[in-house]
Amino acid sequence: MKSRNMSHAARSASGGTKVIIANWKMNLSINEGIKYIKALKKGKAEIAIAAPFTFLADLKKNIGNKKIKLAGQDVSRYEVGAYTGEVSANMLKEAGCAYCLVGHSERRIYFQENDREINQKVKNLLQYKITPIICVGENAEQRKKGLTKQIIKAQLLAALQGIKNVPLIIAYEPVWAISTFQKGKNVKSAGIFDIIAIHNYIRSLLETKFMNIRIIYGGTVNPENSQAILSLKEVEGALVGGASLKVSSFNAIIQST
Ligand code: PGA
Repeated sequence: MKSRNMSHAARSASGGTKVIIANWKMNLSINEGIKYIKALKKGKAEIAIAAPFTFLADLKKNIGNKKIKLAGQDVSRYEVGAYTGEVSANMLKEAGCAYCLVGHSERRIYFQENDREINQKVKNLLQYKITPIICVGENAEQRKKGLTKQIIKAQLLAALQGIKNVPLIIAYEPVWAISTFQKGKNVKSAGIFDIIAIHNYIRSLLETKFMNIRIIYGGTVNPENSQAILSLKEVEGALVGGASLKVSSFNAIIQST
């Protein structure tokens, strides 16, 4: 137990500081985003906002002295050139992004993003020193069949093919626990024991190859459950969708760490 804890501490990128990331998806307006940034309260955790591309420049101007980082929600798998509609890693860097989501389940499901593309995106981000937030997680059917670990391992190995010892954030986001995919139901996060087990599993898969990883949880994190989830030593942060859209609820999550 002791050596496991030491290894965990040695390999965490953060030295214990949790990272809480708001994923605004395709919501809000630029003005709403600016008001939100101004109303964000400080907490112990590091804060990042994954905002729509068109918001990034204005948000950056309005962050002022606040320690808020910016994240892209996606990046092109291409580096530069005639790819209409795409946004490159270099462009995200110029816009001030420290992080970028890759392989979010909405992109995998709605836009048929595959593992090969995800690997290319991760490589592009790393080239421009943007830390990828790689989203992995099983869907309800895979979970029912007992395939959770197998799916996560396959997604991680594919996303990280040809990559070693770089700073990374891995977001464990079980698809069945993301509010998007629970419409009309009483939305629920994954249970604490599932979260601990899978975070430990992900760490065991990656710790020999990566010194600098943080494993965070996403899927219906809200002010009611954030303290229980974020107080776990295995959980080094959270990726928050629905509950990040109102600054009051995101502030409550930040204050719970
Ligand atoms: P949710 O979304 O918090 O609304 O479940 C999380 C995510 O999609 O990253």
